[in-house]
Amino acid sequence: MTLWILNGSVWDEGSGGLVVKHIGIRDGVIQEIKDGSADVDTGSAEVIDAGGKLVSAGFIDMHVHLRDPGFEHKEDIVTGSKSAAKGGFTTIACMPNTRPVIDTPETVRYVIEKAEKADLIKVLPYASITKNELGRELTDFAALKEAGAIGFTDDGVGVQNAQMMKDAMTLAKSLDMPIIAHCEDDTLVVGAWASEGEFSKKHGLKGIPNESEAIHVGRDVLLSEATGAHYHVCHVSTEQSVRLIRLAKSVGISVTAEVCPHHLVLADEDIPGLDDANWKMNPPLRTPRDVAAVIEGLEDGTIDMIVTDHAPHSAEEKARGVDLAPFGIVGFETAFPLLYTKFVATGKWTLGFLLSRMTETPASVFRLDTGKLAEGTPADITIVDLESRRSVDPQTFLSKSGNTPFGGWELSGWPTTTIVNGKVVWSE
Ligand code: DOR
Ligand code: ZN
Ligand code: ZN
Repeated sequence: MTLWILNGSVWDEGSGGLVVKHIGIRDGVIQEIKDGSADVDTGSAEVIDAGGKLVSAGFIDMHVHLRDPGFEHKEDIVTGSKSAAKGGFTTIACMPNTRPVIDTPETVRYVIEKAEKADLIKVLPYASITKNELGRELTDFAALKEAGAIGFTDDGVGVQNAQMMKDAMTLAKSLDMPIIAHCEDDTLVVGAWASEGEFSKKHGLKGIPNESEAIHVGRDVLLSEATGAHYHVCHVSTEQSVRLIRLAKSVGISVTAEVCPHHLVLADEDIPGLDDANWKMNPPLRTPRDVAAVIEGLEDGTIDMIVTDHAPHSAEEKARGVDLAPFGIVGFETAFPLLYTKFVATGKWTLGFLLSRMTETPASVFRLDTGKLAEGTPADITIVDLESRRSVDPQTFLSKSGNTPFGGWELSGWPTTTIVNGKVVWSE
């Protein structure tokens, strides 16, 4: 072996608890997983003592914005990878709403090559569905797949034209590729940034209605049924979307879905006021009823995975006020502690449930060869100190941006070491 991780606590689904294991790594692959009681001859291998800590398969985040090329003042592929690694992520999939948009084989290759040069975590690029994400003309799916794109999405905007979406799904199906959709009907959201609810009423704001999201979900599951394409719903935020996805799954439509930590732990009523654009994201924070529905959807398997929608924006951009500031919050460096503290430490979820939604289920939906702690799989591993309690300090983020509503929150469950293909890429 070249690396042994000794005495780590590993989630054991069979017993529903943690068991101590030693993990031996060579050639970037997990070679051996031994019981904690076994003797290990570590020889000349590097040793990490993970005693008292959780050892998990590396976290996977299938929805992130790295802003590179074009918006490197917000983030770039290197800083985004470092920020992700600090959050325990070993694989991320990045959105194409860059400048230029990732809509050509050249830009796909740019992302892959820059990430490989950074040699930190695994970065998988999506390419756009339509050229420049304008909704007018499909991109060259076959060439983009050939260049290394793992799916197609116009994230940031919804595909407004149903025929365009149907054509995209037909083509995606023929190439065995997924369509990933930001669901938003533009005609229903004009001039609003907060959800329709108590908050928008209280402040006399025009609200974004739930139907603006759910109408696209309903349309697209029908198009998925008609074309047979794998359709994946981005950042589900409403009760109605959950209901439609549940129904679609129940009749065998090839639909999967994701939810973000902020939509699981925050509601519109938590927004402190109109002064802080770090509470502005798209989709917006919804009503407590929607929050309960997305939690239930995740718990019953309607929603498959958790993603951050890491969306860095500079302090200057976020200081423009809620009306003018861009939508989005960073997510890598708070996701696991947030969910561990809110759902696992409180006894609502098992640790295994949370881990599976950040490792196994995204890997299985997107057919990745990672996401499991098992002999013969890539040594993508995250070590977490479940006990340490610390408050969120955006100043310490490795991301170029600190746009988060979670500053000052006291959380536990902080990653301490992140390993990709057997190499330590971040350590506290
Ligand atoms: O909050 C968001 N930020 N939602 C999106 O759909 C886009 C993203 C971004 O690119 O900033
Ligand atoms: Zn989106
Ligand atoms: Zn996004």
